[in-house]
Amino acid sequence: MAKDVIIACDFSSKEKTIEFLDKFEGRKPFVKIGMELFYAAGPDIVREIKARGHKIFLDLKLHDIPNTVKKAMSVLSHLDVDMTNLHAAGTINMMKAAIEGLTREDGTRPILIAVTQLTSTDQESMENDLLIKEPIDQVVMHYAKCAKEAGLDGVVCSPLEAEKVHNSCGSNFVTVTPGVRFADGDKGDQKRVMTPAEARKIGSDYIVVGRPITAAEDPVAAYNRCVKEFLGE
Ligand code: C5P
Repeated sequence: MAKDVIIACDFSSKEKTIEFLDKFEGRKPFVKIGMELFYAAGPDIVREIKARGHKIFLDLKLHDIPNTVKKAMSVLSHLDVDMTNLHAAGTINMMKAAIEGLTREDGTRPILIAVTQLTSTDQESMENDLLIKEPIDQVVMHYAKCAKEAGLDGVVCSPLEAEKVHNSCGSNFVTVTPGVRFADGDKGDQKRVMTPAEARKIGSDYIVVGRPITAAEDPVAAYNRCVKEFLGE
């Protein structure tokens, strides 16, 4: 199983993103492009970063009727991203359609992972707004199992859930975990955090790290530290 550090490039423009990536000179980190940058800069930002030699996790969290998701996934797959995602709440049928759309003519496809419940959703909002009454950790595990049943490769989850996901869905089921902070760093708005070294110990496959790298005085040094702690390199 490939393990890697993914930098969340939460920048508002193409220029700011390229300026940031230029700092890495020869090194080509795996990067996450989210909704803000994708909607601001369009698919060209994906093509440009790919052409520079980076792997890309396109974090657009698709959720629509199966046919629409299938067609949208086909577009993303031809953009040649390496990883993308959707909401498991779209149902197993939607997730199966997503895989069909994502699979290229030669049978290859990007890694596809599911969002279970967003970390911004808590028990109260899930019960009151979504009318889901079960305990949230059970809901998260159920959604992870549905993603596995649909044939997806893994889930986005808190580092604290990674072990449980591996226990119930198998060690090959990929866990992609945001909420990573250095032991001596600022937590920002993340509440439940782990260090890269702890994330490695509990078996996270990919950690997604934004501000501890993007807002660091020396982003390259912060990235190298992250890689060293997480991959033991
Ligand atoms: O800056 P920071 O390290 O907190 O960035 C984490 C990244 O992971 C952001 O792009 C954020 O949107 C994303 N994310 C998260 N928590 C989730 C899902 C995604 O922090 N549950």
